[in-house]
Amino acid sequence: MSAPFIPVNEPLLDGNEKKYLNECIDSGWISSEGPFVAEFENRFAARVGRKYGVAVSNGSVALDAAVAALRLGPGDEVIMPTFTIISCAAAVVRAGATPVLVDCDPRTWNMDVEQVRARIGPRTRAIMVVHLYGLPVDMDPLLELASTHGLAIIEDAAEMHGQTYKGRPCGSFGELSTFSFYPNKHVTTGEGGMIVTNDAQLADRCRSLRNLCFVPQRRFVHEELGWNFRMTNLQAALGLAQLERLDEFLQRKRAMGAHYLQLLGDLPTIQTAPAQTSYASSVFWVFGLVLADEIGFDASEAMSRLAQVGVGTRPFFWPMHEQPVFKTMGLFGEDRHPVAERIARRGFYLPSGLAITTAQVEAAAAALRRILQ
Ligand SMILES: Cc1ncc(COP(=O)(O)O)c(C=O)c1O
Repeated sequence: MSAPFIPVNEPLLDGNEKKYLNECIDSGWISSEGPFVAEFENRFAARVGRKYGVAVSNGSVALDAAVAALRLGPGDEVIMPTFTIISCAAAVVRAGATPVLVDCDPRTWNMDVEQVRARIGPRTRAIMVVHLYGLPVDMDPLLELASTHGLAIIEDAAEMHGQTYKGRPCGSFGELSTFSFYPNKHVTTGEGGMIVTNDAQLADRCRSLRNLCFVPQRRFVHEELGWNFRMTNLQAALGLAQLERLDEFLQRKRAMGAHYLQLLGDLPTIQTAPAQTSYASSVFWVFGLVLADEIGFDASEAMSRLAQVGVGTRPFFWPMHEQPVFKTMGLFGEDRHPVAERIARRGFYLPSGLAITTAQVEAAAAALRRILQ
């Protein structure tokens, strides 16, 4: 009999999740009007050192709301990494603004700060910072650039719950910072997201955009277009129970990363991002790796070989400048970003969920070793 499949992610839901969900059902509060929403917003914002939290239906729309709240639009440029999820560029494009892309650092896979400096021009209004996979972006030089050039920072901390940069929480750096609560995140609500900020007006504007821009005085009369991006009480109940365990979850993730490194760190045919830099210790949101050039096949072949032996994986992001949808729109015509192009083709991640067992890490690592021999 073959061993059971090791999923790329499985959440841990064995804290107060059921208790809080039962409270929703017993009280009848299941919509976004229920009390868990505000409680989750307040506790989550406090955890990342911000004054306000605005819970929304996922991390992608959190970015749409952030871009809209900052009133970015036609003629405005937003500098962002090419190596990220499409949600980042989509939010900017949907607002009618223009994404301007930078490549990533080959060591950390995060956006290359020197390239950001080079791409600032007269139309630049904002930098969208995206922390990827385990390490935060090197924020100090970016904060300095933003302040020198009067640029807003939108910080996509979707993958960084609980991570810090030089001791300061990820999610505390943007005019608006966003999170995702998809089940592969350190805090999940099934689907969900949050915008955090210290700016009362921006928080109000995000709340309004999330709720169809209702005007309190004249319900159903609108002066602006918003969306229904509301989070339900059920989702917030789940989120609150998860948030209570964030420190334990971070420990688990770091232990998982250390274990994988212990088992695979000697392999010359894979590159992993550093576990430790001068500004952060990786939180191993996922255990990502890039195949060295001497391996005669790419990530998709490696992933299919691993799937055949029961190991789930996910490919790395596909760069924005290589997205068919953006090419069709005439965006990023001559852009070349060799680091992102390479790691997109040769990078993927191993099973990394919070519920992963020691035996599963060992089996996944052994399977990888076998296919690379
Ligand atoms: C960096 C980053 N930004 C945004 C998102 C979008 O979040 P969601 O899946 O909740 O829409 C993700 C999702 O995984 C992400 O990794």
